[in-house]
Amino acid sequence: MARKKLIAGNWKMNGLMADGVDLAKGIAREVKALGKPGCEFLVCPPFTLLTSVKKALRGAKVALGAQDCHFNAKGAHTGDISPLMLKDAGCSYVILGHSERRADHGESDELVCKKAAAAHAAGLKTVICIGETLEQRNDGKAIDVCSRQIMGSVPEDSTSADTVIAYEPVWAIGTGKVPTAADVEEVHAAVRKVLSKKLGKSNANKMRILYGGSVKPGNAKELLSLPDVDGALVGGASLKVDDFLGIARNSGC
Ligand code: PGA
Repeated sequence: MARKKLIAGNWKMNGLMADGVDLAKGIAREVKALGKPGCEFLVCPPFTLLTSVKKALRGAKVALGAQDCHFNAKGAHTGDISPLMLKDAGCSYVILGHSERRADHGESDELVCKKAAAAHAAGLKTVICIGETLEQRNDGKAIDVCSRQIMGSVPEDSTSADTVIAYEPVWAIGTGKVPTAADVEEVHAAVRKVLSKKLGKSNANKMRILYGGSVKPGNAKELLSLPDVDGALVGGASLKVDDFLGIARNSGC
């Protein structure tokens, strides 16, 4: 089953207007230069940059996404942003359940699932993040933890058309540490099995499962050539045009 790779940049809480627009313009220029890339591209800047980045990406095959949303469409939720607002700002994707949100904001699987269902209802695609801590990995619980997160965070009617999974071991995020290729493939294959149970074989076989955590141009080829790895969710290296595009090029995009 051919799954088109997705190279996604998670800018996190980085970028003021001028730098963010420059970065987006650089990515747009380089993606255009690829001609017909074999991958899809996605950038997820902070909320404040969404509309400007959208403009800067004009004409390039790069989708726009946000990094979180509320589960309600509107109302008295100070400081929150709704899926409809993201759609209105030009987003087609939203990242949900990133480990930094789970840790910093106490987001549970149940909350992530509610947000994902609302995002799907608003016509957004979701990148739902899962991943174990170092302690859980050392205890041999990585697959259990990821399976539980999939069962709890992914809405039951999700499809391969509206959902992407990102496996991001918490201990690999921003640390320069990366699991072995065999460990990555083991988790991805296990995740696909759980998805198959939850969403049916056809959805599971078509659904993209990204790897995230210290992806760089230098390790992209090995990680992204694994059979169940369908792209990357890139943090630090997505803030530099050369690194982000280097990851894509080294992954055969
Ligand atoms: P990193 O972050 O590439 O900086 O490790 C990945 C992520 O958190 O999505």
